[in-house]
Amino acid sequence: MCGIVGVKGIKNPQDFLLEGLKELEYRGYDSAGIALIDEGELKVIKAVGKLKNLEEKVKNVTFSNPTLGIGHTRWATHGKPTELNAHPHIGEFSAVVHNGIIENYQEIKKELEKENISFVSQTDTEVIVKLFEHFYEGDAFEAFKKTFEKIDGAYAILLITEKEPEKIFFAKKGSPLIVAKNEGKFFFASSDAPLIGYANTAHYVEDGEFGYVDSFKPLPANKESAKKGGFRFYMEKEIYEQYDVLKENTLGRNTKDGIVFDELDKSFFEGINNIIISACGTSYHAGLVGKYLIERDAKIRVDVEVASELRYRKPLLSKDTLFIVISQSGETADTLETLKMAKKAGLKTLALCNMDNSSIVREADRTILLRAGIEKGVASTKAFATQVMTLWMLSNYLADKNEYEIINQAIEATKVNSKIHEKIKRLSKRYLHGHGFFFIGRDIFYPLALEGALKLKEISYIHAEGYPAGEMKHGPIALADPELFVVALLSKNILFEKTKSNIEELAARDATVLTVSSEEIELTDDYVKISLANHPMIEFFEMMVITQLLALEVAIRMGNDVDMPRNLAKSVTVE
Ligand code: F6R
Repeated sequence: MCGIVGVKGIKNPQDFLLEGLKELEYRGYDSAGIALIDEGELKVIKAVGKLKNLEEKVKNVTFSNPTLGIGHTRWATHGKPTELNAHPHIGEFSAVVHNGIIENYQEIKKELEKENISFVSQTDTEVIVKLFEHFYEGDAFEAFKKTFEKIDGAYAILLITEKEPEKIFFAKKGSPLIVAKNEGKFFFASSDAPLIGYANTAHYVEDGEFGYVDSFKPLPANKESAKKGGFRFYMEKEIYEQYDVLKENTLGRNTKDGIVFDELDKSFFEGINNIIISACGTSYHAGLVGKYLIERDAKIRVDVEVASELRYRKPLLSKDTLFIVISQSGETADTLETLKMAKKAGLKTLALCNMDNSSIVREADRTILLRAGIEKGVASTKAFATQVMTLWMLSNYLADKNEYEIINQAIEATKVNSKIHEKIKRLSKRYLHGHGFFFIGRDIFYPLALEGALKLKEISYIHAEGYPAGEMKHGPIALADPELFVVALLSKNILFEKTKSNIEELAARDATVLTVSSEEIELTDDYVKISLANHPMIEFFEMMVITQLLALEVAIRMGNDVDMPRNLAKSVTVE
């Protein structure tokens, strides 16, 4: 996830570009760059690392009379965070910034290379500017149109060229882009925060739009709400973002012909008979889902380990084991140490991680990036969604199974239904007292129960436990009374009757039960209805959103700071 800005018609456009990038820096900060047209000539300045490095460099550049410019802050997806890979990418007379992923860049690159056009970066973005210059025959807009027709994928693009130095070209498909104006001044940005204070009207560019715009809408009045996109907390925004984030996570990976991981090749799995997954917290719960999926489909034995335990228990590590670590931050100390331990024992290692260039990514043999974007809420939501999705795709990959359509349906199931959100908001007031929660489920819904309970306890501070539904009668059912709250995750596709019996056992002992299912169970107190689906993973993703919303709404009613719950930190770099 990256941020882009652009500006035309103000004095010292570089100031707006740097200020705008600062607003977007949380989205990605492994490199940044700007390009300006100054007296008809292109000037490009880039720097690796945080924005302050770019600011320092810009201070040492002398400008004459720059009229327009574009800028970018990068969160690496294709290629390492180096200056060559940083945006803007340049050709002989043009520069481009891009948010998103060009799916067919390798194909285009090969075609252009045949025409003796060379590339300096490892990125997908460079093909845009090279294609544009290749198509240019005296009409920049025509060349831009042809470029846009040739590329596939998700993008928001800004391009400037010495050939028509008064224009900023833009195109959008899938990634956000706003163009705003104030009298004769034009501003572009990938979210509205950089625009506030500069422009009073904005046009939210639609998918498929490119060139110029003429319809403008008012901007929100305050920067803080703009960053949260009108949501009360980042966590809420991130729950709502899951649909888009999963699209990005699966882009170019979940294809009609099966799963493609550019990061992997089948030879990497040669000689592998077992898998160990090591992780902490929410990432550990995602790992548990992976165990159910991979063992069932790919028939490879999977052990899932809490990293802080694995690290000290002198485990038996055999070389036919693939060691997978899962981490949002890529800096979790215990997870990192288990990765080092596995490498020392000679195991092949794979990281599923959200932060490129993090310690875990640098340490692992291979990495699949989660592409969840920056997660600001301390309670992980969208990162968990991408972890589970990536494990599901990995399981398909290992099993040579094609669930293209089902994966897409599961993504659809994460779109937040406003009526259900409203219902959860109302229901939440009934669950603020009592002596605690049990979240119960079977199969993949058991790790989801663990995760639902973790979400609730970490932000509401109410005690909650996840339990396998069939295990309640072996002890915890002794706690059942009207003040014990049970959230039952009841799948229509996996062990429906057995889970239903477990729910009835609790209801019979007067526990207060909230069932999440596509089928209403008469005896339970409350009920959140999900859509009828014919695959458990579709139900999983819909239920995931419901458990996250429940935790959110209970915590809000308790008056807690949802994004920064007490005693916690986003990145746990101590053991
Ligand atoms: C809970 C949560 C934590 C993290 C855990 C591991 O909402 O976010 O449980 O999942 O601290 O962190 P990462 O994934 O960064 O290794």
